[in-house]
Amino acid sequence: MRLGILTGGGDAPGLNAAIRAVVMRATTQGDTVVGFRDGWAGLIGEGLARVVRIEDVHGIVGLGGTILGTSRTDPRKEDRTRAEVLANLRRYDIDALIPMGGNDTLSVASWLHEAGVRVVGIPKTVDNDIAETDHCIGFDTAVSVVMDALDRLRTTASAHHRVMVVEVMGRDTGWVAAIGGLAGGADLILMPELRLTLEEIGRALERRHARGQTDTIVVVAEGVDFPDLQGVREASTTDAFGHVRLDQRGIGDALARSIEQRTGYETRAVVLGHLQRGGSPTATDRLWATRFGDAAVDLVHEGKSGVLPVARGDGVAVVPLRDAVATVRGVPQDIVELVRRLAGTGVPEIPLRVANRA
Ligand code: F6P
Repeated sequence: MRLGILTGGGDAPGLNAAIRAVVMRATTQGDTVVGFRDGWAGLIGEGLARVVRIEDVHGIVGLGGTILGTSRTDPRKEDRTRAEVLANLRRYDIDALIPMGGNDTLSVASWLHEAGVRVVGIPKTVDNDIAETDHCIGFDTAVSVVMDALDRLRTTASAHHRVMVVEVMGRDTGWVAAIGGLAGGADLILMPELRLTLEEIGRALERRHARGQTDTIVVVAEGVDFPDLQGVREASTTDAFGHVRLDQRGIGDALARSIEQRTGYETRAVVLGHLQRGGSPTATDRLWATRFGDAAVDLVHEGKSGVLPVARGDGVAVVPLRDAVATVRGVPQDIVELVRRLAGTGVPEIPLRVANRA
């Protein structure tokens, strides 16, 4: 068989481990793997592709980014590009395509399946918000970066008695904020699934100061909205899928300024940005990527299409692509409640006399 592979959307640590697994599994069964460059852009126009051999994936399991390149390209936007994708798949003689990506890339994959192409997807996004899977490639690494950053920020916040507002990725959901924030011991976590008002945030900080806790780490997901927050910029650019550039809003910065004005506590903002997507993947991301890549090749050989391997508990399950892209997967209620208790309005009051006795 001739298998096409591509990586689309934002890059994520672990993509190369998935590419390696596909190439190793497919090649040892006699298949040829054709890698399309830069996501769906590699299937538009003349197309841009090359055969990916076993020797090309040697030593890439721990490499961040993607050796295939990526882009945010939606080929469904025009009749011309739709036709070019289908023509290029024929021209390169592709029997089945394995696109690796988040909700956007997988919705294009779902369209291709409906158009009669054999497609098996692989779930990837640091945002971890693809429905039907417990884990997306890149999420564990992003969370580790957040945790490490919070450990570092704690010492400087503590030394200066400051509030640190840490903006993390998460367009529609608070996965990175919640799990990274919990792992790093954030004092307040603000995310779409658990909104606090500016007044509640101010009161929470004042309560902490009253207890003698003068360093505070506030983690905020980049996609959160505060209706009364001044200074959030209008994002002027959208990508091919119509998503606004959240980094242009400056939510962390605006929140830091608002906190300082409201409470008088010295506050700094840190935007972790693409640090969360860069560098070497964790063992967890490498392993899921390897399992997904291996399973995807098996599914293709079994003649399956319009599906993707997903993480279910400790194992790999298989679900339809259309279910995976039908909704985004928010943070589950038990984690939201944990955040509420440990890093939200539910933080228990510690009576001062108890604190003094200690
Ligand atoms: O891929 C998802 C994501 O990481 C979002 O969390 C973030 O808003 C966006 O990508 C950033 O995209 P870009 O790399 O295009 O700036």
